[in-house]
Amino acid sequence: MARDRTPADLVGAAPDAAFEISFDGRPVPALPGQSVAAALWAAGVLAWRTTRVGGRPRGAFCGIGQCHDCLATINSRPNRRACLVPARPGDAVTTQEGHGHAGLGV
Ligand code: FES
Repeated sequence: MARDRTPADLVGAAPDAAFEISFDGRPVPALPGQSVAAALWAAGVLAWRTTRVGGRPRGAFCGIGQCHDCLATINSRPNRRACLVPARPGDAVTTQEGHGHAGLGV
């Protein structure tokens, strides 16, 4: 019978303590070294942006900083690639709508 193993188990890693970020005001657990996208995925959040035309949901696609599908507003800064931004304690991630500047008045 196969037992559940995590990547940390496989390499013998001992990550530092988990911390919390938020997504649209709800708490999301994160581990040191996780990207914002990875933390959101682990919490079951798959979409955190809507497209400029049509308002269709988007989240991470390539995971390597090439497609820009994962753009998010992080700590009030829009257009951050969530797959490249390391999660930090207290980060506030909010759904980005359109070009991400609507809330900034520009
Ligand atoms: S998922 Fe493609 S740039 Fe982040």
